[in-house]
Amino acid sequence: MTESNDAPQGKDGFDYGDAWAARLELVRKKIAEGENKARYLLAALQRQERFFTLWTKPGSGPTWAPRKIEPGSELWPPGNRVWRPTSLRGLFAWVPSYAEFRIDLLLADMAASHGPFDVIAELGCGYGRNLFNLIDVNPDRQVRYVGGEYMASGVELALQIAACHEARERFSFAHFDHTNPDMSLIGPARRALIVTVHSIEQVLRLPTDYFHRLAQAAPEVVGIHIEPFGHQVNPALGPMTREQVKMFASRRWNSNMHNIAHRAEADGAIAIDQVSLDCFLPLDPYNASSLLVWHRK
Ligand SMILES: C[S@@+](CC[C@H](N)C(=O)[O-])C[C@H]1O[C@@H](n2cnc3c(N)ncnc32)[C@H](O)[C@@H]1O
Repeated sequence: MTESNDAPQGKDGFDYGDAWAARLELVRKKIAEGENKARYLLAALQRQERFFTLWTKPGSGPTWAPRKIEPGSELWPPGNRVWRPTSLRGLFAWVPSYAEFRIDLLLADMAASHGPFDVIAELGCGYGRNLFNLIDVNPDRQVRYVGGEYMASGVELALQIAACHEARERFSFAHFDHTNPDMSLIGPARRALIVTVHSIEQVLRLPTDYFHRLAQAAPEVVGIHIEPFGHQVNPALGPMTREQVKMFASRRWNSNMHNIAHRAEADGAIAIDQVSLDCFLPLDPYNASSLLVWHRK
């Protein structure tokens, strides 16, 4: 997931350490003003993101800039544009700007149909927004939520929000690196659901035993990845897919996720249950995501 349609992104201009630090500052300000409930901290962050874009430039620090609205755009009463660009099945598309894909509901339904799970872990979780959203729609009260994130500022922000959460004892967050996945992160578990959402995208090459190592996290493991790998499967799915191929090459983003998942299947470490291409409504029309689901063999 790129940060927005307008911001510079990737290794050239976007620094997630700075990005999470800017959000941490906003949350700390709210806490200093007396806010002590996680859901309102999350709501404040999300509203900020609807109206502002976070820019980070090496050397100059992050800044929030009002979202660009093209002159003459049709607007919703609060001033947001009525339409936002996205892509579907490789084609450019416009959808109402308030239309979003509910990752939390997809994960809750996965947890119901493949679970019950002791642990749901998101790897490369940023400040844990997918886990915080998920707990609100997942009626299973036994599950622990574990977030792994590369950037210290992301982990710190997740911990701040978790500390204000009514179910704080069910959350843990720690450092995690896709290039050397240490699955002791999740602690003792019999059944684990492991999730990634647009974080593998940032890693040029995953280690070839990546899925083998994730599968060893617990005796029973299901993996679900919402990642932009469709162009690795079918680079000619549509005109937007061809642009995505170029973008990934120029940013040096992930190039081997789909291959090594198949290699792990051939090795007998995992079984792939589902691959669906370009089936979300990305905020960045040039970065469509696809779905990979697997389980430990
Ligand atoms: C687009 S953000 C997505 C965050 C989160 N999954 C979400 O959906 O809100 C990409 C995340 O991947 C993290 N990341 C980048 N390289 C990583 C690595 N080697 N290991 C783990 N996370 C990484 C970034 O720090 C960032 O938090």
